[in-house]
Amino acid sequence: MAGTHIIKSAGLSGVSGFGVAVEVSITNGLPGFVIVGLPDNSVRESRERVRAAIKNIGLEFPMRRILVNLAPADTKKEGPIYDLPIAIGLLAASEQIDPVSEKAMFVGELSLDGELRPVTGMLPMALSARADGIDSLFVPKACALEASIAEGIKVYPAGHICDIIDHLRGERPIEPAPPYDLAACEPDRLDFSEVKGQPSVKRAIEVAVSGAHNILLTGVAGGGKSMMARRIPSVLPPMSMEEMIESTAIHSAAGLTNKSAPLLTRRPFRSPHHTVSTSGMAGGGKTPKPGEISLAHNGVLFLDEFPEFQRNVLESLRQPLEDGSITITRAAWTCTFPSSFMLVCAMNPCKCGWYGHPNGKCGCSEEAVKNYARRISGPILDRIDIFADVPSLAYGDLASAGKSESSAKIRERVTAARARQLDRQGTPNARMSGDRLAAHCVLSREGAELMRAAYDKFALSARAYGRILKVARTIADLAGSRGIETEHLAEAIRYRNSGMLET
Ligand SMILES: Nc1ncnc2c1ncn2[C@@H]1O[C@H](COP(=O)(O)OP(=O)(O)OP(=O)(O)O)[C@@H](O)[C@H]1O
Ligand SMILES: [Mg+2]
Ligand SMILES: [Zn+2]
Repeated sequence: MAGTHIIKSAGLSGVSGFGVAVEVSITNGLPGFVIVGLPDNSVRESRERVRAAIKNIGLEFPMRRILVNLAPADTKKEGPIYDLPIAIGLLAASEQIDPVSEKAMFVGELSLDGELRPVTGMLPMALSARADGIDSLFVPKACALEASIAEGIKVYPAGHICDIIDHLRGERPIEPAPPYDLAACEPDRLDFSEVKGQPSVKRAIEVAVSGAHNILLTGVAGGGKSMMARRIPSVLPPMSMEEMIESTAIHSAAGLTNKSAPLLTRRPFRSPHHTVSTSGMAGGGKTPKPGEISLAHNGVLFLDEFPEFQRNVLESLRQPLEDGSITITRAAWTCTFPSSFMLVCAMNPCKCGWYGHPNGKCGCSEEAVKNYARRISGPILDRIDIFADVPSLAYGDLASAGKSESSAKIRERVTAARARQLDRQGTPNARMSGDRLAAHCVLSREGAELMRAAYDKFALSARAYGRILKVARTIADLAGSRGIETEHLAEAIRYRNSGMLET
């Protein structure tokens, strides 16, 4: 007797899922077990796990010619996730279970005794399954919550392959996972109310966050740069459902989802250490994995001690800062990852950290101070919208007993300003396209003159010009103003006018 059976499964390419058909055929002939269709080594090892699992649960492993074809044949298949569909296909092809619906999909790694182990990239695979018309998804228990984020598809969590066999035989149906519960997310532990004084820095941060503009905080040691940057998540505007799913899918593809609360409900805040490698930052590896800039998609990338990052790591930010995505090409693959993030950087003005501090501890020469700033290349600085100087905290502010304004209050203003931007052009101001810029950032005559003077005086680039207009638009949005007034533009120009830009 011979049989062929097709079981639906899925694969992961970068941060998106795709459908895979696992075709299992059993023919008479010398016993053998071959997997074709661009499997990697871990897929080939499926043979051993599937063989052991089927024997260990007391079913029959067919001693005939077994051929497994993973289609589409031209796409690489990775990882152990095909164990489950191969095993189910073998059982169906050898008539130990009935044929399986073509609207059912199976993913999961098997242990030698048939237990199901979690897989990476569950959400993107579930989303692609839904798009392909799959209605039932059989997954390892530990991935069920994540799969259930893809609304409208029945998710069957299984701890063991026997659970699935019993279900398919109609003996012991599996209870489908309940719809994903968007439980209220817990509030941030860090709050701006703990940050004393520094009103101008807080204002600059509020503007930056409102329009998703890039910001660099420069100041002496202990001025509160890291302290303030780490509180930025507490004032970020809320995410749309679409953004949550998009960001969660990226984390899932990187194997970084929280199994007990997989849906990212707050904007990501990534702060890689300055020793991070280029592939850690930008993405890459043997198989395409998203890097920090993609994990920060829809959120914030915070680079503390900015000049300490390797130069080529910083240079890798150039394309994504402009395009909102990154394309990585290796010998074996090319992959595009989303990477639209707000860049927040912090640095000291000099190597010792005290330049400009009244304590007079800085012994750095003017030249050394300039060289320190020059570690950051012009093209990177040109992509910074807001340069904020962080002065050392005045004693009066530090010793004052009062609490500062809470993050909740700041967030209210930010959220209102962001809502105006989304209503007007569907994106935060920082991502406004050129034609929108012309339509929405019209200057008065007085404003235009101010802009011309700044352009000449500070020798601005065309990019800087556009970026100033966008920041001015955000300041107007914070003020609830339809037009960009001269005071809004003047504030935006002030943020751009930094000693950092002088060479
Ligand atoms: N504005 C402030 N309000 C209250 N505490 C502050 C403030 N600024 C600094 N501090 C205190 O000083 C500590 C050091 O601040 P922080 O680490 O943010 O400085 P920094 O500017 O990042 O310094 P460095 O350049 O050395 O990294 C904080 O943990 C906090 O206790
Ligand atoms: Mg710091
Ligand atoms: Zn110094």
